[in-house]
Amino acid sequence: MGEVFDIWCAGLFSLPISLPWTAFGKALRAREELLGEIETIVRQRQKRDTPGEDALGILLQARDEDGNGLSLAELKDQVLLLLFAGHETLTSAIASFCLQVAQHPDILAKIRQEQENLPLSSPISSDTLKQMDYLDRVLKETLRFTAPVGGGFRQVIQECEFNGYRLPQGWAVQYQISETHKDAKVYENPDSFDPDRFLTEEKAYGYVPFGGGVRECIGKEFARLEMKIFATRLIQHFDWQLLPDQDLSLITIPTPHPRDGLKVTLTSR
Ligand code: HEM
Repeated sequence: MGEVFDIWCAGLFSLPISLPWTAFGKALRAREELLGEIETIVRQRQKRDTPGEDALGILLQARDEDGNGLSLAELKDQVLLLLFAGHETLTSAIASFCLQVAQHPDILAKIRQEQENLPLSSPISSDTLKQMDYLDRVLKETLRFTAPVGGGFRQVIQECEFNGYRLPQGWAVQYQISETHKDAKVYENPDSFDPDRFLTEEKAYGYVPFGGGVRECIGKEFARLEMKIFATRLIQHFDWQLLPDQDLSLITIPTPHPRDGLKVTLTSR
């Protein structure tokens, strides 16, 4: 399924021309295949006495105010959405973290210094994680510097004016996350990776890696927790160096990742 998932992702933001050899056409076929696999899993789960406590179990038990559950098509669609929203974004974020830390040994040293006197034995408690203020800033800066999601759409529900432009009702508007995060009017030296900027700079709608408003990312806190645990364990147990002769320029679709992947040598500590 991993390979099919990659084909689907590669065509997610492509020209909508459905031919057998276009990225879009391949993605449509991959989507059908993924939905077929997901349907098998959903049907198996529906036959069980208990739906389970994972995301699929919760979706199976969800009821609206009239007591209706989700249809099979809706369940399949939600599972596929979660695979993209929860997996693809996060892998991009932690790859960016690994890249930045490998390129900034001074930052790695500071993270380690912060962790030196903390109880990092298994399992890590949330109290311990909360004490890692510097790591928090590094992860925050990672999401500013290389935002996993490029932007999002909103529909104008009521005609309004913005910066002298009239926005008619019904229009679709796009907000751009990376452009906001790299706007020199919002951030000083936006192109430098500087976790300590968050000691002083706090920009409500100038920092939007998870979107904003009522449709903000529903997995935001979970994602931040996953990133922090991943970063803590990686730094605790490994050193890593970037391999030479690789192209680290970013492909941004569907989420930012280095053109050659991210090739590193990992050494146990
Ligand atoms: C670093 C990781 C992540 C980033 C940067 C991210 C970013 C975003 C963004 C920008 C949106 C659109 C919000 C908007 O329209 O204003 C979104 C929506 C969403 N995200 Fe995340 N996300 C991440 C991780 C996750 C995880 C781990 C999950 C679930 C386990 C998740 C589930 C969702 C869902 C279901 C939506 C749609 C919410 C809706 O339309 O109401 N995301 N995310």
